[in-house]
Amino acid sequence: MGAAQPGYVLPMTSRPSPATTARPTQMVIIASTRPQRVGKAVAEWLTAHAQEHGAFHIDVADLKELDLPMMNEPEHPVHGRYQHEHTKAWSARVAAADAFVMVTPEYNHSFTAPLKNAIDYLNKEWKRKPVAIASYGGVSAGLRAATMLRAVLSALGMVATGTTVSIPMVRSFLDEAGEFQPNEPLRKAATGMLDELLTLHTVLAALRSGERSA
Ligand SMILES: Cc1cc2nc3c(=O)[nH]c(=O)nc-3n(C[C@H](O)[C@H](O)[C@H](O)COP(=O)(O)O)c2cc1C
Repeated sequence: MGAAQPGYVLPMTSRPSPATTARPTQMVIIASTRPQRVGKAVAEWLTAHAQEHGAFHIDVADLKELDLPMMNEPEHPVHGRYQHEHTKAWSARVAAADAFVMVTPEYNHSFTAPLKNAIDYLNKEWKRKPVAIASYGGVSAGLRAATMLRAVLSALGMVATGTTVSIPMVRSFLDEAGEFQPNEPLRKAATGMLDELLTLHTVLAALRSGERSA
């Protein structure tokens, strides 16, 4: 669990605490960075749902807080020879994660630029890891964004769950306090997505472990 890829050294602060070592780490990535974004409320619901689900230790990566500059590493990320502290820190955090939930809106029929940037910074840290997509938008529920994201994740050797959370007319699920209030189909989809993420984690963690020792 949380094992770093060879060549990627985790700082002590990134290591999971003993209390969490029994559970794999799921990183929830918030892809929208706008002021007034809905994405934070969607991610807060999914994080609470995942905590209730109980299978994963959760690490929320808010790309607004992370504030990565536009990709500025001189070398191809596949080599893992990073020059910048922001890349080294992002690398250690992603390497420590076993599974991902990417929460993205649809912008012009695709996922967000900050998410593409955060993905492009790294390479082997993503490889052979499971990922689930939670998309949202207008009537299309962000499905075009999810389809484009799948192609990128596949190029990095990630394995996406078939089960997704797809939220149409996202603002209609916000209450007066701006909190996301899911309906029953969305709750069921979130549970199914996490179950599948856990199944894929079991298989892929074994595969990564075999690849490391080969
Ligand atoms: C730049 C931009 C492009 C958008 N393009 C789409 C789109 O192609 N399809 C869609 O369903 N909604 C689109 N929307 C509406 C967003 O889905 C909606 O504003 C959503 O709340 C954005 O997520 P956020 O609040 O987390 O940033 C777009 C919004 C923005 C800001």
